[in-house]
Amino acid sequence: MAVEWWRDAVIYQIYPRSFADSTGDGYGDLPGIVERLPYLRQLGVDAVWLSPFYLSPMADAGYDVADYLTVDPLFGDLADAQRLIERAHELDLRVIVDLVPNHTSDEHKWFRQALVSEPGSVERARYHFVDGRGEGGELPPNNWKSIFGGPAWTRIDDADGTGDRTQWYLHLFDVKQPDLNWDNEEVRQHFDDVLRFWLDLGVDGFRVDVAHSLVKADGLPDWDEEQAMLDGLVGPMWDQDGVHDVYRRWRKILDEYDGDRSLVAEAWVADPERLALYLRPDEMHTAFNFEFLDCRWDAAEYREIIASTMAADEAVGAPTTWVLNNHDVLRSVSRFGLTDPGSSHEGLGSEDEQPDNEAGLRRARAAALMMLGLPGSAYVYQGEELGLPEHTTLPDELRQDPTWFRSGFTRVGRDGCRIPMAWEAAEPALGFSPNGARWLPQPDAYAELAVDQQVGEDGSTWELYRSALALRKELALGRGTLEWVDVADDVVAFDNGPVRVLTNVLGSPVALPEGCEVLLSSTPIDDGMLPTDASVWLRTS
Ligand code: NOJ
Repeated sequence: MAVEWWRDAVIYQIYPRSFADSTGDGYGDLPGIVERLPYLRQLGVDAVWLSPFYLSPMADAGYDVADYLTVDPLFGDLADAQRLIERAHELDLRVIVDLVPNHTSDEHKWFRQALVSEPGSVERARYHFVDGRGEGGELPPNNWKSIFGGPAWTRIDDADGTGDRTQWYLHLFDVKQPDLNWDNEEVRQHFDDVLRFWLDLGVDGFRVDVAHSLVKADGLPDWDEEQAMLDGLVGPMWDQDGVHDVYRRWRKILDEYDGDRSLVAEAWVADPERLALYLRPDEMHTAFNFEFLDCRWDAAEYREIIASTMAADEAVGAPTTWVLNNHDVLRSVSRFGLTDPGSSHEGLGSEDEQPDNEAGLRRARAAALMMLGLPGSAYVYQGEELGLPEHTTLPDELRQDPTWFRSGFTRVGRDGCRIPMAWEAAEPALGFSPNGARWLPQPDAYAELAVDQQVGEDGSTWELYRSALALRKELALGRGTLEWVDVADDVVAFDNGPVRVLTNVLGSPVALPEGCEVLLSSTPIDDGMLPTDASVWLRTS
């Protein structure tokens, strides 16, 4: 039987508003993506994942969906989505779309109906509307906090228009992202329909947003832990066992379709074993390995995380899905350029430590070769293949991430990793749009990293990714098996089939074994030594 594609695929994450703007309004769009698909074919990825492009007031850049079956005019229309899927398939690229089931936008028709309906009504039962505590219900129902800062509850006006404010609604994220009530069968049925709609249109899978939060503990008990995205916590709103029923139900729907449609979980849970529960044979197919993304630049930590996550996934027959970047975290170049490399994934502003992006790029390239040498599936976030750093000096007045506003302007949030792509160095907005329009400015450093400066350039980060992807495919590394090799404390070393992967993490230069052919390296290798903060792929047989 052919191996299912998602087991070893390299998937490129497109953040639609920042990829390619075809209209000149400063926002990327679906036709812009279609034009650039051959670029992704040339890079050598197997699939694309698109962050949400559905109808949305964009309070959280589209993760606040007002209608799951409509494309937001900012990005195009349904015919554009259809064309994108068809064109991708012609180029042998699979397409994964984002599914946001934990919450809708407050502009979704269900929420609007709920606001004008009585407490206890069918309309309110689709969300978590709860009476407040205190004599007049003036206190929130519990002490939960929003991931973006502030309380997770907002009080609303009463439906009769008298101005009495009798109920509160839950939003684990922004006030404009009310949480759906997944104990409600009508909610479950609606999402069955949403899945079928996109599957019928031809998508190859779904990335499931905050997959671990849909089901809340009975009675919504108090819990006052501070938390941020990617923190793996067990709490009454996270990783409740009941959530697995949802994925078993979805898996049955996907299995009705041909073509190995797949589900990838965005779930920040306590440990690899909890994550593996999402990957049991009748649930999801893959899940992002955020422990790997969040790892400090430290060889022992990498060894531990790679071993424990692979062991947990193998126990349920699932591949491990490696990731270093996405639209929520400090880009790896800047993360690894911190004084304590990789110690934080929070966005940075001008007042914060400014990363050493030169050291960071060296490490990010080494990390990429380590990642792409591992068996399993992997994600590459747009611009990662160029070695783009985070924009860490974005003027505050341009910030759009709700984290910035809800944290009382104390956490700058994620805009710095969502900057428009750099295509052509000499064009206005670096070729992102036809007329120089762009929703956020690129930093100066992006020009020399633009696509046209790197494609075909020996030693460029783009060529490193392209070569790694080609070799990975040729040598079937994604389907290989890992065997640890003992080289030195500071070196992550393993064999994967005919390839030995070595990553020197902050250690002194290490002699390469004699007689091995160097297939690829993240920095030039001379005198047979693997330098500090570098990776190499060697042919061992
Ligand atoms: C995770 C998404 O990746 C992030 O961008 C979003 O803000 C939250 N989920 C809420 O949908």
